[in-house]
Amino acid sequence: SWEGGTRVTRSEFVVVANRLPVDRVVAEDGTASWRRSPGGLVSAIAPVMRSRKGTWIGWHGAPDEVLEPFDEDGMHLVPVKQTAEEVELYYEGFSNATLWPLYHDVIAPPVYDRAMWDAYVRVNQRFAEAAAEVAADGAIVWIQDYQLQLVPKMLRELRPDVRIGFFLHIPFPPLELFWQLPWRRRILEGLLGADLVGFQLPGAASNFVRLCRRLLDARYLKQDVFWDDRIVRARAFPISVDVHELRKLVARPEVRERAEEIRTDLGDATIFLGVDRLDYTKGIAQRLQAFGELFEDGNLKPGQAVFVQIATPSRERVEQYQLLREQIEQQVGRINGTHGELGFPVIHYLHTSYDRAELAALYLAADVMVVTPLRDGMNLVAKEYVACRDDMRGTLVLSEFAGAAAELKRAYQVNPYDIDGLKETLLTALNAEPMEQARRMRSMRKRVIEHDVDRWAHDFLAELEQPHNL
Ligand code: ADP
Ligand code: F6P
Repeated sequence: SWEGGTRVTRSEFVVVANRLPVDRVVAEDGTASWRRSPGGLVSAIAPVMRSRKGTWIGWHGAPDEVLEPFDEDGMHLVPVKQTAEEVELYYEGFSNATLWPLYHDVIAPPVYDRAMWDAYVRVNQRFAEAAAEVAADGAIVWIQDYQLQLVPKMLRELRPDVRIGFFLHIPFPPLELFWQLPWRRRILEGLLGADLVGFQLPGAASNFVRLCRRLLDARYLKQDVFWDDRIVRARAFPISVDVHELRKLVARPEVRERAEEIRTDLGDATIFLGVDRLDYTKGIAQRLQAFGELFEDGNLKPGQAVFVQIATPSRERVEQYQLLREQIEQQVGRINGTHGELGFPVIHYLHTSYDRAELAALYLAADVMVVTPLRDGMNLVAKEYVACRDDMRGTLVLSEFAGAAAELKRAYQVNPYDIDGLKETLLTALNAEPMEQARRMRSMRKRVIEHDVDRWAHDFLAELEQPHNL
């Protein structure tokens, strides 16, 4: 069970997520330090937490280690431990080898394993207990993402007085796919413990309501589900980026200088940019394939155009991620080997994570931002790019399968499965006149600036705080 209860300060606002916003990293010489955790969830929740002065409950990224609550970067953090076995079965297993592929259109085959499920239940219970200890009377508890779908129900059983919100950062699959899951009822019942279940898109909320009806025989009206003498609201809240932070970053002279330096270092070639966690949902292979073929066809020449692909290491012990890494690295080698020239590789592939300032400089330097997921709940990289381009330059190539496509209508939208279409779109984006770039960028910026992450959090929490009794 959860340790450290007596030392805990109770909080009116509690966020529960699998990960804390910082990971504990221990160097070879044994010195430990903190590093920002990867992914869109942390990018979105951290600014909200700082302004609400709440408590964040999550895992600190180091197996077996038990840590005391601490403060970091203006946030109060409560670490929840995971044993090495739980990391394997709950995090790498049920979360990332079962739910992740199932919820992303089964791009990779989901693993259905009972030991993984048992660990998922156990770790969810631990998070629920931690939340129950930390939450003040009548507190708002906001549970995040697919790793913790059982927590709403478990927490309600422990603490019926608190108000429970849940937000799913990834897609919610259609009934036909969800049906595969051997534990499908348990997951749905888990989510129905919340007062408000938030999704990125209205379609996901509809999938959820339809499932409640078909699987649990629940009554519903529009997007309200009647369950256990309560109303559970399903709603869409498209997540966004911290526009204020990004604008401040790109206003810094050293960031603009760095962008210039990147351009010079790349020989003033046209820059195509990809920034992703190294994940098979991101369509990295498709975009590199299309880019490589443009050299084969003679539409691009080495030295004139380069692709910079930054890929953050992610979930490295999960088999599908190992396969993906091999595939991408072979592909990069093949394309560079075939089309590069001395001093002019056509792809710069960096398997690493960058700090926010370097990322902003890269966004500023890029002529064409290439975001081609095969399925993505939202994709914050696309919105970050738009938020950074206050010079009204640059073009965004964006997959129709990213949640962001619903808002960024002026992006050059593509079907990443269609390699010819992708090639054509890369060229169109590359050749867009400055006037056309500005016209599109202005319209996309308007959307992102008006719908930033503060508004997302505000809309969700305002809905959660509204009384909705039967
Ligand atoms: P996901 O949540 O699936 O990782 P998103 O695009 O929604 O995808 O969010 C990714 C977040 O991680 C963004 O805030 C992005 O800036 C950050 N990120 C992605 N790749 C890198 C990288 N190589 N270095 C630093 N940050 C990165
Ligand atoms: O938003 C999707 C998400 O899976 C988050 O839940 C997660 O924190 C992030 O991407 C990064 O993944 P991970 O925590 O597995 O490194």
